[in-house]
Amino acid sequence: MLNELLQLFGAAIWFILPAYVANAAPVVVGGGAAIDGGRRFTDGRPIFGPGKTIRGFVAGLIAGSVVGVLQGVIMGQPYTYAMLGLLLALGALVGDLFGSFIKRRLNIARGGAAPGLDQLGFIVAALLFASPLMLPSWGVILTILIITAPIHLATNFGSYKLGLKNMPY
Ligand code: CTP
Ligand code: MG
Repeated sequence: MLNELLQLFGAAIWFILPAYVANAAPVVVGGGAAIDGGRRFTDGRPIFGPGKTIRGFVAGLIAGSVVGVLQGVIMGQPYTYAMLGLLLALGALVGDLFGSFIKRRLNIARGGAAPGLDQLGFIVAALLFASPLMLPSWGVILTILIITAPIHLATNFGSYKLGLKNMPY
């Protein structure tokens, strides 16, 4: 029983790792010009807001893809994993952008909390982007969905304590 759970947990982390890294990298190296260029949507509020930067997006894409390449080297399937890493990273970043778009429409300021969306939006998008190439078993997908929110909250709290983030969540 414990063995199976540990195996599920390991398979989940292994599969989704490029998305986690893509989501975390902008916190460390993000900043600078906003993707929306400060422009506003038809409702007068920011399209994405100043928390979504070009540098953060590019850094996340590169960092997540590098993880995919390393996984490919380890697994002896460089092309598959490189492509998977790229798709997972792109999906995580686009999902995060989409989440910010929704938050701005709901009048939640940059950095404000949107429980659920903040923790899971990027991961659902990552899985959707990866799906044309490869999806893990339903058990692994379910495990990813269960473990991501606590991991996201824990790493965000750590980043906050380290002074990398303004909000603890
Ligand atoms: N970040 C970035 N570029 C991105 C995504 C994130 O530079 N594409 C950086 C920003 O400094 C951001 C931080 O990572 O403040 C944390 O990301 P996130 O929590 O997603 O952004 P928020 O500031 O909370 O903004 P939002 O309310 O739009 O989610
Ligand atoms: Mg946030």
